[in-house]
Amino acid sequence: MSQGTTFTKYITELGSKNPQIPASLLISVANACKLIAKQVEQGALAGIIGSAGSGNVQGETQQKLDIISNDILLEACGLDQTLAGMASEEMENIFPANKNGNFLLLFDPLDGSSNIDVNVSIGTIFSILKKQSTGELTEKDFLQAGCDQVASGYVVYGPQTTLVYTTGQGVHMFTLDHETNEFLLIKENITISPDTKEFAINMSNMRHWDQPVKRYVDECLAGTEGARKKDFNMRWIASMVADVHRILCRGGVFMYPWDKRDPSKPGKLRLMYEANPMSFLIEQAGGASVNGKDRIMTLPAEKLHQRVSVVLGSKNEVDLIQKYHQGS
Ligand code: AHG
Ligand code: MN
Ligand code: MN
Ligand code: MN
Repeated sequence: MSQGTTFTKYITELGSKNPQIPASLLISVANACKLIAKQVEQGALAGIIGSAGSGNVQGETQQKLDIISNDILLEACGLDQTLAGMASEEMENIFPANKNGNFLLLFDPLDGSSNIDVNVSIGTIFSILKKQSTGELTEKDFLQAGCDQVASGYVVYGPQTTLVYTTGQGVHMFTLDHETNEFLLIKENITISPDTKEFAINMSNMRHWDQPVKRYVDECLAGTEGARKKDFNMRWIASMVADVHRILCRGGVFMYPWDKRDPSKPGKLRLMYEANPMSFLIEQAGGASVNGKDRIMTLPAEKLHQRVSVVLGSKNEVDLIQKYHQGS
């Protein structure tokens, strides 16, 4: 479709050709994110900066915007008749929506919470599943592998507010036009270059990493004098949305690996709200996404707030890191 097509028109046309696509739900999510974007832009002027003084099920202190974004998504998407229920990083339990709905929405309402107060890019991440059972909605309905997602995406609230989504037919990008309050198509069928000279990891955790991650990063740092024979650059925004957005735009590899800080935790990031939706996008753009050894999208979902180790981005780099984890 031509540049500048509105997201609503784009998705409506897609939905009319393929009724399996959660068209109205995608439009509801986009509309919710427009409302979140308004709050984000206003910042202190809207009184949304700072801690809410509460904690979430992840053991994190909630920021005001974590809660505001969660409420906006619940309200805007709850009206959608195709939606059976929602699950969120900020809610311990599932949130039923409509009895006749056949889709499930999972989200990280506000990703990159530590960046809210310092005016750095943040985002919303979402994943859509089909409700497989016919009975009353339970948490079990949500426990599906990443491969079963029917759509996923994110909105990054940065210098521009940009929505990126996939329904398994490529990755497409839309930027919010403030004049018309519409997301307009800027790029279709995004692909990630298989090779890169850029990696993203929180280097302050180096002493806690496992050997394969240490080996990979050491080799990047050695530059032209090391095994890789090229110089690498590093970026770490501390908002997964913004780091993944950069990778979709110019390649790279993103890692939030398991580390020894808390050996009982399988990682920091959440499988259902962060890793699965981002993995779907990355794979659709020709990249790869693993937990170290295995493809994230095939991991069984055992619980709603499950955590996972994440390595994703340019395919040849991710394959190399996976090889190191497999002991070769
Ligand atoms: P959230 O704000 O949704 O809890 O997620 C934050 C995540 C992710 O966006 C980012 O990559 C990572 O946490 C940053 O962690 P560090 O502060 O440990 O670098
Ligand atoms: Mn959080
Ligand atoms: Mn997050
Ligand atoms: Mn969050």
